[in-house]
Amino acid sequence: MRGRFITFEGIDGAGKSTQIDVIEATLKARGLEVIRTREPGGTPLGEVIRKELLSVSMDPATETLLFFASRAEHIAKVIRPAIERGAWVLSDRFTDATYAYQVGGRGFPAHKVEELEKWTQGDLQPDRTVLFDIDPEVAAQRVAKARNLDRFEKENRDFFTRVREAYLTRAKQSPERFLVVNSMQEKDTVSDILRKEFSQWA
Ligand code: TYD
Repeated sequence: MRGRFITFEGIDGAGKSTQIDVIEATLKARGLEVIRTREPGGTPLGEVIRKELLSVSMDPATETLLFFASRAEHIAKVIRPAIERGAWVLSDRFTDATYAYQVGGRGFPAHKVEELEKWTQGDLQPDRTVLFDIDPEVAAQRVAKARNLDRFEKENRDFFTRVREAYLTRAKQSPERFLVVNSMQEKDTVSDILRKEFSQWA
């Protein structure tokens, strides 16, 4: 049986990680094989690329290409093999993040991302995507509590407003794939919503 490919998205500070923990535990308790992974990263080479992406300032084209380089490796080595053997792949970010951050945030041309997406992914698309939606103001307060901010987390409010809008536009374009969750609610409320949804996806 083919597995599932689920991605999790949202601006920095939206609280993705805590909720992915909950989903991972819920699915494992049902006896499913669950692969928890992330982008950029998810493979040894991808983690090397991640380190540079998060720390070195670079041209938007270089940045976009490196996200896709990490993604190509991730798809070939982790995502496709796992789905083919029937596992559930939970990825903390995927291509929607490139549309949100590089296209929405930085103004990189969407058509170039579309070409890279076709080339790198072929027919691979997430089965479902959870978008944690949050006011950039609230998210910034959460992020400020972290000590070492990376290059993206240091971006200003306008940048994150554009990223959020780009995510919401993506969600409107594919309502059957996206679940948009209001991430300003209590953590437990968000977890309950997700547990209920995931029980219907199995
Ligand atoms: P993330 O793992 O969410 O950061 P953290 O470990 O701090 O939670 O993601 C790293 C950053 O990379 C995040 O700010 C979003 C950015 N990003 C892009 O700009 N484009 C992309 O395609 C991806 C996958 C991530």
